[in-house]
Amino acid sequence: MLRSTKVRIAILGSGAGSNAKALCVAARENATLYTVALVISTSAKAGICEVARDEGVELCVISGDVKGETFTEQLGSLLQDHRIEVLVLAGFMRLLPPEILRRMHGNVLNIHPALLPEFGGKGMYGIHVHEAVITAHKVESGATVHVVSENYDEGAVVGQMRIPVEATDSPLTLQEKVKLVEHQLYPAAVDQFIRTLK
Ligand code: GAR
Repeated sequence: MLRSTKVRIAILGSGAGSNAKALCVAARENATLYTVALVISTSAKAGICEVARDEGVELCVISGDVKGETFTEQLGSLLQDHRIEVLVLAGFMRLLPPEILRRMHGNVLNIHPALLPEFGGKGMYGIHVHEAVITAHKVESGATVHVVSENYDEGAVVGQMRIPVEATDSPLTLQEKVKLVEHQLYPAAVDQFIRTLK
């Protein structure tokens, strides 16, 4: 794809914001194909809000029921008003309303803290994923970036990175290690996805 301007992305999440930070830093320091035009948080208290402020990226908070019409309308308007081409989920633990997927023509990515298709689906988010990996005595885990569909953690895989699980790992130490690879994977995977856009 030949583009003279960078692709405008919005990051949507409600967590600590470490992936949002990595996406912003990569855009600021490297020659990424995207620019972070907007950060959207579903909680005014989430760490991701602090990340947006630190990075000087416009921040919008949408609170309320993610399944409600108001949330969908507000999110849709924000994406339109900011001319967002790719929506990037980072620590967004709910299903995205189908109207938003349609509006974005499927250009929505998510990062999941395991090697999908294993350890995905409803209830598999955050620390729960790492607890399940440890309980299953897996010797390997990692992170997956995938295109978002109407079901949890399905959709085409854009990229994965693997790490060993040590016998001494706890869910928390595994989470820390997986986050480190997520921070490398996500900016590269967003660029890789952008290269496939027509
Ligand atoms: C990340 O580990 C991400 O993979 C996970 O939430 C964390 C958010 O951390 N997402 C899911 O579990 C989605 N199913 P961050 O706010 O520090 O980026």
